[in-house]
Amino acid sequence: MNDFIFDNPTKVYFGKNHISSLSGELLKFGKKALLVYGGGSIKKNGIYAAVTAECEKAGIELFELSGVEPNPRHTTANKGAQICKKENIDVILAVGGGSTIDCAKGIAATAVSDAQDVWQLVKAGKWVENALPIVVVLTNAATGSEADCWAVISNTATNEKLALGGSGILPKAAFENPEYSFSLPVYQTACGSFDIFNHVIDNYYLAGDAEFDMILEFQEAVMRTVVKWAPVAMKNGSDYEARANLMWASTMALNTVLDAGTVHGCACHAMEHELSAYYDITHGHGLAIITPRWLTYILDDKTAPAIYRLGVKVFGVEEGLQPLAGAKKAIDALSDFCFNTLALEPKLSNLNIDSTHFKAMASHACGGSVITGLKNLGANDVEQIYKMCL
Ligand code: NZQ
Ligand code: ZN
Repeated sequence: MNDFIFDNPTKVYFGKNHISSLSGELLKFGKKALLVYGGGSIKKNGIYAAVTAECEKAGIELFELSGVEPNPRHTTANKGAQICKKENIDVILAVGGGSTIDCAKGIAATAVSDAQDVWQLVKAGKWVENALPIVVVLTNAATGSEADCWAVISNTATNEKLALGGSGILPKAAFENPEYSFSLPVYQTACGSFDIFNHVIDNYYLAGDAEFDMILEFQEAVMRTVVKWAPVAMKNGSDYEARANLMWASTMALNTVLDAGTVHGCACHAMEHELSAYYDITHGHGLAIITPRWLTYILDDKTAPAIYRLGVKVFGVEEGLQPLAGAKKAIDALSDFCFNTLALEPKLSNLNIDSTHFKAMASHACGGSVITGLKNLGANDVEQIYKMCL
């Protein structure tokens, strides 16, 4: 077990009856808030009305930035930062899924910096300590952005999708009402669920030689939760227990509880971010296509025991097999989950993606080096994995 520091100060209000505490959390920072949201789903499902009514009651002056795109653009974050600078905004209120929250984080960092463009901060790769405070109302169980210190921002002019990180952009408070995700379409439910699942296997579970038994069991519990409840939420979007389990799993997967003592990786995420940078696809779907191929590619005598354990603990594969045979069954079970249970198209070609940019994407995913993990991957390996996904 490696040494670790555990420190996650995001205050989470989880459940149906906390919206009346929203204004109190905002007023800790001031009376001028920038409300950031996406393409309008919050107007259709009543969340916008609930949030703005709560702010009005408390005398909070709301400014608005709407239209945040899935895979949020740096140009949109720049618009938000300009509003903050011009209007002296005290706090940012992000209402939506990971894209909206990430855009809010980009705004928060740029608003207090001399930079006019969030992309300068992203490219500088500096840890962001200073930013406007962010409060989140979550509507999609997926990315963990509600309680983590990362934002993923896209620049469509350069085909780049890169992370901005820092303790300064960790949300101060997150309101997680599972009912707010009832209106999520089936496809987004499937994609978000797989994103949660992949955060666990990609970041820590299969990242290296993890031997911290308690944490491995926690990680498996989060993955089992996704496997159990995603199909229930897909069948009945208003199933509270299903939405609640997925929402808390989303937060737990990336709020650093599951990091403790582990080795870190991120192979599938590095490969997927190139796909959404070039083709603007939905993040969780890209991960679902890549993950079983990545496991197949890295499978050998050394990696088989960890992959087999995943199969046994998460998918109920029988114990007592030879590790390689067991690991193959684990990969089959994972593929079945992605492409049958979650009903996601299994191939990149189904999403109109061909091999044109694979070389450039692979080289960029490796950042001039290798992607470390259960098995290190160079640019040639990554290109092979993309080809397996066609
Ligand atoms: O645009 P709106 O109206 O908000 O609609 C969204 C969008 O069309 C819709 N939606 C969200 N909640 C809804 C809803 N529709 C109806 N009812 C609701 N309750 O769903 C669509 C997708 O929303 P989006 O925010 O893009 O989804 P998600 O939460 O999956 O976020 C994806 C983004 O987060 C990044 C991804 O790369 C991607 O850019 N990630 C962020 C991470 C982080 N900050 O730590 C880590 C992740 O690995 C990931 O990379
Ligand atoms: Zn993810």
